[in-house]
Amino acid sequence: MSKILKVAIIGVGGISNTHIPGWNASGNAEIVAGCDIREDVLNNWGKEHKVTKLTTDPSELFSDPDIDIIDVCTPNMFHAPLSIGGLEGGKHVICEKPLAPTPEDVKNMIAARDQSGKLLMTAQHFRFQANSKAMKSEIDKGILGDIYHARSWMLRRWGAPTGTGFILKKNSGGGPCIDIGVHILDLTLWLMGNPPPIAVSGVSRAEIAHQKGAFTGGGKNEIPSEYDVEDFASAFIRFETGATLVIEISWLLHHRTTGEDMQMWLYGTKAGCHWPKCEFLWSNFEEKEYNEKTLTDFPEDLEEAHAQECIEFAQAIIDGAPSPVPPEQSLQVMQILDGIYRSQDAGREIRI
Ligand SMILES: NC(=O)c1ccc[n+]([C@@H]2O[C@H](COP(=O)([O-])OP(=O)(O)OC[C@H]3O[C@@H](n4cnc5c(N)ncnc54)[C@H](O)[C@@H]3O)[C@@H](O)[C@H]2O)c1
Repeated sequence: MSKILKVAIIGVGGISNTHIPGWNASGNAEIVAGCDIREDVLNNWGKEHKVTKLTTDPSELFSDPDIDIIDVCTPNMFHAPLSIGGLEGGKHVICEKPLAPTPEDVKNMIAARDQSGKLLMTAQHFRFQANSKAMKSEIDKGILGDIYHARSWMLRRWGAPTGTGFILKKNSGGGPCIDIGVHILDLTLWLMGNPPPIAVSGVSRAEIAHQKGAFTGGGKNEIPSEYDVEDFASAFIRFETGATLVIEISWLLHHRTTGEDMQMWLYGTKAGCHWPKCEFLWSNFEEKEYNEKTLTDFPEDLEEAHAQECIEFAQAIIDGAPSPVPPEQSLQVMQILDGIYRSQDAGREIRI
């Protein structure tokens, strides 16, 4: 029987609840410890999940020889120090998105990963949906030809969070770019085959959040006055391959959507495709036909994607396989998002 990997979760708030079913369903892992700065929350969490190793000091987990995996689920600004602490303690680390709020932090995490020889993975759960995997395997067969352009967007009409972990730049590193742009951008780059980005022309602005009485969410909660991040961004990105991408990201936009409008088109020399519909379009020039197909023949999701990413991370460790979401790919994502902010400040295209 293979080893059961012992998992410690740091930051037992909202998103950690989506990881727990994955660790529980994985035959390769079990949760043995939890850490949070809020002791009362931590104690309740420990009772609920029958976890007794509880601490407010993460360094106790880094030096604990009975822990194999650190699962970082704290606000963004703690991702780098906690992940680096875990790697330096000889642990494998899975860390929530964004891997870190700046490219420099991500580079430091990669250096710590290299020193440790352990796996570091970003929790980009959209990659773990069955439809994403089916499209990735079809695209990797070369069906699109050369992908020369992509369009993607992740837009909410009323989905700005109000927590200080998200709306204060010092905690989050940015607004919707960092919070949700990271999802659609990671997925787009992954499906494109992660071409290296070379230049970004972008804008990031807060147009709605600061209006008098601006509200968000189903509860029409007032946007806190200390909100200091963007509410909208758009960008044009050039890649080393010559490919280009146009992306739009917002938490608050006068856009028709009930929850979240997250979509992507990839355009290649032989075909185009749409995520999440799994539609592929192409033309037969000899027969003068427009053709299309929709992928349907793939297995259903066995687990919810946040759970599936934990299962696949544990499996990669057991198999000695590479990280299912390599931090080098997250570095590209953060270089582009950071490039949007730098381009906004400079008022022109910037090189990466
Ligand atoms: N993948 C997704 O779809 C998704 C969705 C939501 C949030 N997230 C990410 O998850 C992370 C956490 O978001 P959340 O919604 O769970 O926030 P949350 O506020 O609900 O939970 C964060 C927890 O971390 C604790 N914490 C804060 N600083 C800490 C520290 N230094 N050490 C230990 N514990 C600390 C807080 O007390 C809290 O319990 C963020 O990085 C966010 O971007 C990802």
